[in-house]
Amino acid sequence: MAAVKVVSLTKEYIDGDHYLKAVDNVSFSIEEGEFVAIVGVSGSGKTTLLNLIGGLERPTHGCVFIHDVDITQLSFEEQTDFRRWHIGFIFQKYNLIPTMNVYENIVLPAKLMKRKVDEKEVFRLVKDLEIQEKLFQMPDALSGGQQQRVAIARAVYTHPTILLGDELTGNLDSRTSASVMKLLKGICSQYQQTLLIVTHDENVAAMADQIICMKDGKVVENGKL
Ligand SMILES: Nc1ncnc2c1ncn2[C@@H]1O[C@H](COP(=O)(O)OP(=O)(O)O)[C@@H](O)[C@H]1O
Ligand SMILES: [Mg+2]
Repeated sequence: MAAVKVVSLTKEYIDGDHYLKAVDNVSFSIEEGEFVAIVGVSGSGKTTLLNLIGGLERPTHGCVFIHDVDITQLSFEEQTDFRRWHIGFIFQKYNLIPTMNVYENIVLPAKLMKRKVDEKEVFRLVKDLEIQEKLFQMPDALSGGQQQRVAIARAVYTHPTILLGDELTGNLDSRTSASVMKLLKGICSQYQQTLLIVTHDENVAAMADQIICMKDGKVVENGKL
């Protein structure tokens, strides 16, 4: 079963008398454990596509299957609940809680899901992401690359069906970005985690198993590497 399958996905925006298809009849699927990068110039619809898959926006037409659930058919409340259990987001600006230390940030979503915290797994994750020495520090004492690794640990720790990242290395210099991506890729293969990211960075995209290239809302090239 594919981790993600989108079918004829379309998102239209009407802004006054201006009509735009931000995502235009897009279909593809992502296998479990696959790492997919969405690339394309600014305004090509990458963020809209990711937000549709993450259930943050609703399509005008088409379906989004996460495993075998069509999330476009869920009510608002069901979608919020589904997101919590199945989708892990990694943001460009990290979005860590500034008043909580690294450990507390990592386990927060799992606590909200009322899951029992497995400390050993937290320790293993931070070790794999090379932030174990920062575990009880506050986010503002960490570099950008370290904060992003905390955000990755927080997202992976809930074992989502799919991990989504929009320009997750966008605030990092190229060397830090390469090392964060290498660690993220390592974590994903270890946890058999499916990963879908939007990126401007060719070096980041080159690490993916599959690249989806967007132009004017359409997929123009969908190449298996
Ligand atoms: N909420 C919105 N209302 C109207 N137009 C939007 C909205 N969100 C995005 N768009 C438009 O949709 C197109 C695709 O945007 P986006 O998905 O953000 O592209 P990308 O992430 O590739 O830069 C752009 O032309 C953008 O202006
Ligand atoms: Mg974008």
